[in-house]
Amino acid sequence: MRSFVFLTPLLATIGSSIAQHVHFQIPEVERYVQSMLGEFNHYTKYPGPSPIYWQHPSPRPTKPAPSPPANSCAYWLEDIKHQGIAAFNPSPSTYQVFRNVKDFGAKGDGVTDDTAAINNAISSGGRCGPDTCASSTVTPAVVYFPAGTYMINASIIDYYYTQLIGNPNCLPTIRAFPTFSGGLGLIDGDQYGANGLGFGATNVFWRQIRNFIIDTTLIPATSAVTGIHWPTAQATSIQNVVFQMSSNNGTQHQGIFIEQGSGGFMNDLVFYGGLNGAVFGNQQFTMRNLTFYNAVTAIDQIWDWGWTYKSISINNCSVGLDMSSGGPTAQSVGSITFIDSSISNTPVGIKTAHGPGSQPSTAGSLIVENVVLNNVPVAIQGNGVTALAGTTGQTTIAAWGEGHSYTPNGPNNHEGPITPVSRPGSLLQADGKYFERSKPQYQQYPVSSFVSARSSGATGNGHTDDTAALQAAIYAAKAQNKILFVDHGDYLVSRTIYIPSGSRIVGETYSVILSSGNFFNNINSPQPVVQIGKARESGTIEWSDMIVSTQGQQRGAVLFEYNLDSPSSSPSGLWDVHARVGGFAGSNLQLAQCPTTPTATVTAANLNQNCIAAFMTMHLTKFSSGLYAENVWLWVADHDVEDPSSTQITVYAGRGLLDESQSGTFWLIGTAVEHHTLYEYQFAHTRNVFAGQIQTETAYYQPNPSAPLPFPFFASLNDPRFPSLTATDGNLTIPDADGWGLRIVHSNNILIYGAGLYSFFDNYSTTCSNQGNGEVCQYRNFEVISSNAITVYNLNTVGTHEMIEVDGQNVAYYGDNLDGFVDTIALFRTSS
Ligand SMILES: *[C@@H]1O[C@H](CO)[C@@H](O)[C@H](O)[C@H]1NC(C)=O
Ligand SMILES: *[C@@H]1O[C@H](CO)[C@@H](O)[C@H](O)[C@H]1NC(C)=O
Ligand SMILES: *[C@@H]1O[C@H](CO)[C@@H](O)[C@H](O)[C@H]1NC(C)=O
Ligand SMILES: *[C@@H]1O[C@H](CO)[C@@H](O)[C@H](O)[C@H]1NC(C)=O
Ligand SMILES: *[C@@H]1O[C@H](CO)[C@@H](O)[C@H](O)[C@H]1NC(C)=O
Ligand SMILES: *[C@@H]1O[C@H](CO)[C@@H](O)[C@H](O)[C@H]1NC(C)=O
Repeated sequence: MRSFVFLTPLLATIGSSIAQHVHFQIPEVERYVQSMLGEFNHYTKYPGPSPIYWQHPSPRPTKPAPSPPANSCAYWLEDIKHQGIAAFNPSPSTYQVFRNVKDFGAKGDGVTDDTAAINNAISSGGRCGPDTCASSTVTPAVVYFPAGTYMINASIIDYYYTQLIGNPNCLPTIRAFPTFSGGLGLIDGDQYGANGLGFGATNVFWRQIRNFIIDTTLIPATSAVTGIHWPTAQATSIQNVVFQMSSNNGTQHQGIFIEQGSGGFMNDLVFYGGLNGAVFGNQQFTMRNLTFYNAVTAIDQIWDWGWTYKSISINNCSVGLDMSSGGPTAQSVGSITFIDSSISNTPVGIKTAHGPGSQPSTAGSLIVENVVLNNVPVAIQGNGVTALAGTTGQTTIAAWGEGHSYTPNGPNNHEGPITPVSRPGSLLQADGKYFERSKPQYQQYPVSSFVSARSSGATGNGHTDDTAALQAAIYAAKAQNKILFVDHGDYLVSRTIYIPSGSRIVGETYSVILSSGNFFNNINSPQPVVQIGKARESGTIEWSDMIVSTQGQQRGAVLFEYNLDSPSSSPSGLWDVHARVGGFAGSNLQLAQCPTTPTATVTAANLNQNCIAAFMTMHLTKFSSGLYAENVWLWVADHDVEDPSSTQITVYAGRGLLDESQSGTFWLIGTAVEHHTLYEYQFAHTRNVFAGQIQTETAYYQPNPSAPLPFPFFASLNDPRFPSLTATDGNLTIPDADGWGLRIVHSNNILIYGAGLYSFFDNYSTTCSNQGNGEVCQYRNFEVISSNAITVYNLNTVGTHEMIEVDGQNVAYYGDNLDGFVDTIALFRTSS
């Protein structure tokens, strides 16, 4: 969320003829942005429309897909009654949440230019666009594409809080005319304007693209063109999209281009052709089930801090993953974790710039685990030298790494095989990979299999108490073995909502459950807002596309309490289900109520009690088990999303995610927990967790006040103690009572495949995290106590002086692990 100056265009004037004036400090990013912006110029030089565009000689001709019979394309989301409302929009009675592009004049006939109609479907209704608005939650939209081939001649401009959803039963194609011009991406997720990116990339939250074919094959191979431009942040996803690009000699096409942001999650993508299947540069992302065919380079990683790739399949490319950006003297890729994947018929699997003497010293950290090679002569190449030989036959890399290792002491400068994680069987699929399951879209169910929350009497209007109606709808759906569709809205609840086993619930562009009132306001007697199962209840639930929030002072609110004991063979699932605490319309925890107060010393006596907004965000309780959480962001707001200047606010929420399940068995895929008081992730007396990439940020106000203020200590919850306010190192005095990013106590088999634990601020000032200042935002951020079989791959910290503490001892000083802005340890492992 914090915007990084070093990636902000310095001279930010962009237009079709002046793209060359945009500069980025990372040369690789500069080069890519320039080459992509070159599209503007290129297309204005293109000799104009071919009257019969599908006969253009250069690309592989692509015929419009034959239309299958209408009934086989039926999809419930298209057919269901559309009655979602934006409760806090100025005109909720007229504002349209659901938009079918055909209602806006798009033809999808493979001939007509649908650009204007699609853009109108996205923008109508006074929505938050890149040229006019920083961010907003009051103009949400689902923009739905029925089956068809939608021809476009300019970019589809994505807006804030938008889900672009195609029919998953008959994927709509978005195909560019050969004359396509004037934009970065067939879908531009963050359009450049006069001052650089329209939306600050690290503030682009809550949006999705799913179920499309993105087709650039009519565009000449030699033209640089991008399928989707996607500089985004947390709670964003691209799912189930096929990219069709030219694979002609010399192709300049690329499927996805990201140059900034703080993501994020993607899954189930297939890329055909291209110079680069995808070009990725962002702080961190988790990506799962991406398949590449016939690209020159499947993935060109231009920069990152940490990245987790799982279930990647690379076929018939020249290079699989190129992370050598910047070269050995200025590597711009911090770290990559690449697991459960395969590379076939590709001369070089992974290309790095890491090697003896490469700079920064820990940049280019790489961990590979369980990767099958099939005719990949060079598995890993570092600075042109073979670091790990491949094979013209078949082999499996059990585990290999390069970078600094702490086992648990270090640093050791490692390059070579490592002992793979001893994976608990309960976390695995039959093929030995960690279990994975994509978000269900229920495309096989007719509309009659759904119950609507609004049709069941819940209002979602943000004012009426919907507790009873929403609870009744949940029971009704379960009783009829149907799926509950929670039409977009803000469902105010004054008592706990209970989700019994067997429930399947799906929201509409993040329908919100909003707690309020006294029931949730006792800081000594916490109550769940949403309770999934009761203690010792067994069974499974599925839940997707929703948000749980609080309104006003809610000192005892636990947003999610997960009690269910689900079998590891069919775990419960949360997909794109998020927490949002404060900072949005309807929360009553905005700039007006919760301004920052850095210049006043905050004490128990003067602390703004009205802004104590939650007790805990997610609790995985003692008898719970078997939860798969994918793309879940538990966010305590650091700024007001409705404010045009994204002004910071101070909101207090006690604890982030607490896992104290005795039998564990949890998958946390692409999760992030931010800005809580005591800790972000705490694993206590638990086991068997697969997590990656995890990401945290320490509360920006700390240490003004320090933790635990304003939350009383609960021994029963394994709350941490904060015995000293500061620690010293030489002449440095460093806050030592900031919340923990990650705390693992009395636990085993906590397996973390990629972690970014960031502490950017000290009392709202970033001086403490500026490079060269000694990483003095907080003394420690990650501790392990009395735990075994703990592995963390690619730990990246910011602003933290001592990176790891084991049983009270500091084991990893930041200055030994410098990696540009972050500090990186490729492998941390407890001794037993
Ligand atoms: C596409 O836009 C170009 C101008 O950029 C125009 O010349 C051409 O006629 C348009 N083609 C179609 C099919 O709309
Ligand atoms: C691809 O194009 C380059 C430059 O035009 C040429 O040198 C090379 O031989 C071509 N390769 C193939 C396989 O056609
Ligand atoms: C991976 O993605 C492809 C393409 O969307 C999909 O067909 C396949 O089912 C996905 N695999 C898994 C394990 O989800
Ligand atoms: C491999 O990729 C090359 C270049 O894109 C292409 O010409 C060839 O047909 C591909 N082979 C297969 C088996 O797809
Ligand atoms: C917080 O920072 C401000 C300056 O921005 C300073 O005046 C104040 O004393 C600081 N408070 C604490 C508790 O560090
Ligand atoms: C703190 O110590 C370092 C070396 O240990 C020294 O370079 C620096 O000048 C000192 N700073 C102050 C303010 O004394």
